[in-house]
Amino acid sequence: MNQPDENCRPILSLSGIDHAYLGRTVLSRITLDLFRREVVALVGPSGCGKSTLVHIAAGVVNPLRGRVERRYNQHGMVFQEPRLLPWARARDNIAYPLRHRRIGRGERDERVRAAAARAALDPLDLDKFPVEMSGGMRQRTAIARALAMQPDLVYFDEPFTALDVALKRRMQDLVIAASRDASFSALFITHDLTEAARIAHRIVVMDAHGGGILGERTVPGRPGDRTEGDLFRLVNQFVTQDPLFRHIHDIDERRIS
Ligand SMILES: Nc1ncnc2c1ncn2[C@@H]1O[C@H](COP(=O)(O)OP(=O)(O)OP(=O)(O)O)[C@@H](O)[C@H]1O
Ligand SMILES: [Mg+2]
Repeated sequence: MNQPDENCRPILSLSGIDHAYLGRTVLSRITLDLFRREVVALVGPSGCGKSTLVHIAAGVVNPLRGRVERRYNQHGMVFQEPRLLPWARARDNIAYPLRHRRIGRGERDERVRAAAARAALDPLDLDKFPVEMSGGMRQRTAIARALAMQPDLVYFDEPFTALDVALKRRMQDLVIAASRDASFSALFITHDLTEAARIAHRIVVMDAHGGGILGERTVPGRPGDRTEGDLFRLVNQFVTQDPLFRHIHDIDERRIS
């Protein structure tokens, strides 16, 4: 069975979501469910409304119309840019939401340590201020901040773009393992189809022109079991044979004026 817990209710349901900025439609009639232990990758051309959709799902932005039902306990959010407090060291950035929740010092320190280790941060880097970090370190600090909340759903907005190949793989493995052991589900925005095919159960494709969700594909096999060869064949098939993916890879299909 590819989609886990099919019989359970989704932990996130978006129905009939419309949104516009300054009178310009960005999202229209979006309906999307996310199930426990599931990773859904959201792909689509730049500016098609992916971040807006994730912000609406997480409650950061209120939609113009439609309903969001959240049946999870706690979400974590990794924004498209790290959004770290510039005056706080990495460890204090990671701890910030825990302080906000009035989690005591001992538990806070332990959660920061564990989340930093999962995000592959060196303990020595935890004393650095954002200005002293590399771009990849800032991203991993933002990932650790989300993990420290012990979320059962994580919204990822292009989270691994500044990471080198090895770290990107390690972070992808973290997402795959988390969905397997049910520690969290994920709604994961990416421009990288190979990344989507590697980590996701389903890939949802958005329209370039505010038309909403164009369609979705279930990825064969389980995340973590797919070989490099499987991924290569799959992505090749998506971009050469599947019309759903054509407008992502073919700039002429986007009708950019
Ligand atoms: N706060 C805002 N005010 C006005 N327009 C906005 C705002 N946020 C986003 N937009 C517009 O909404 C559209 C969708 O933006 P969004 O950031 O959701 O796209 P995206 O799919 O995440 O793009 P990318 O892949 O480049 O990150 C864009 O045209 C953008 O200019
Ligand atoms: Mg975006």
